[in-house]
Amino acid sequence: MILITGGAGYIGAHVNKELHNEGYDTVVLDNLSSGHKYAVNWGEFREGDISNINFIDSIFNEFDIEGVMHFAAFTSVGESVKYPAKYFKNNYKNTLNLLKVMRENNVNKFIFSSTASVYGIPKNIPITENDILNPINPYGKSKLMVELALERELKLNPNNFKYSALRYFNASGADIDCDIGEDHNPETHLIPLILDVAMGKRDKIKIFGDDYNTPDGTCIRDYIHVKDIAQGHIKAFEYLNSFDNLDSNSNPNTNSNSNLNSLTNIFNLGNGNGFSVKEVIETCEKITGEEIKKEVVDRREGDPSILIADSKRAFDILNWDPEYSDLEKIVETSWNWHKKCFK
Ligand code: UFG
Repeated sequence: MILITGGAGYIGAHVNKELHNEGYDTVVLDNLSSGHKYAVNWGEFREGDISNINFIDSIFNEFDIEGVMHFAAFTSVGESVKYPAKYFKNNYKNTLNLLKVMRENNVNKFIFSSTASVYGIPKNIPITENDILNPINPYGKSKLMVELALERELKLNPNNFKYSALRYFNASGADIDCDIGEDHNPETHLIPLILDVAMGKRDKIKIFGDDYNTPDGTCIRDYIHVKDIAQGHIKAFEYLNSFDNLDSNSNPNTNSNSNLNSLTNIFNLGNGNGFSVKEVIETCEKITGEEIKKEVVDRREGDPSILIADSKRAFDILNWDPEYSDLEKIVETSWNWHKKCFK
């Protein structure tokens, strides 16, 4: 049984469905503060909060957990700048609770939902896992703190603990069967906000700055389909499993020195293609057939100008190969979901 914390949220729910499709049993733990009960259509569900150690412990007592995929976190860059303590407490401190309970229950496989935000303003594009880690917003900092905690956890339990941190770029798109999709409240992400405009639910999309050092002046991001991200989790888990019958020297996490950047179990998940905010708007216009009203406003604090992934390590080591890397496909699946969910 795999425990999915935050499995009622956008990415966690897609991972839950994908795991189910591949024959895994799952239990979802979610406090439903931002996730949705309707999104948990597969496996078991227990409502509760990872700030509550007794509650987490009860899940490990009830189910035979072989590994944990950890998504429960606040994820909005803009909000994290306004309320940093909220991010450090929930994303970092509560993850320590989870790791403690795992250790006490002898559960030692962990897949962590990390982020491209750990890089801050990258020195090189595309960004490799070895680039400097210098997050410029509390969200990215809170996720980097967890990556460091995982390294520490490994030192406590070097022969047993196995983990993978997946640094996603811009998760986007929706389930191909339209069962689940992006449904944040309030919504802050670019594609669903543009689709709201296409549906007439918002007047216009605000473009956060057009004076960046990019060809059209707007920020460039690497949009990666949520189903591909979900596949990345399964591949990462299988990779950890592949070390099960080997001796401790073959732990994927200990074949490196103590430098976080040299760990081979940290993977970027992105397409390697960058699209500007204006290009995303144009693609949404093409797919929806609607003209999108826009207004350029001030930059949003905490936004780097360009984030594009080098995901070669995930291709080579995990054999991960994104299937829905095309922006039009991403927007098309989002649009199908958006029309169904927000009609
Ligand atoms: N943007 C706008 N107007 C909006 C919303 C967004 O111009 O109304 C711009 C942003 O400034 C940014 C781009 O669109 O340049 C994408 O913004 P999102 O809010 O959709 O996503 P972020 O890039 O801020 O963050 C996302 C995830 C993070 C993750 C990051 C990694 O939310 O969890 O991608 O690249 F860390």
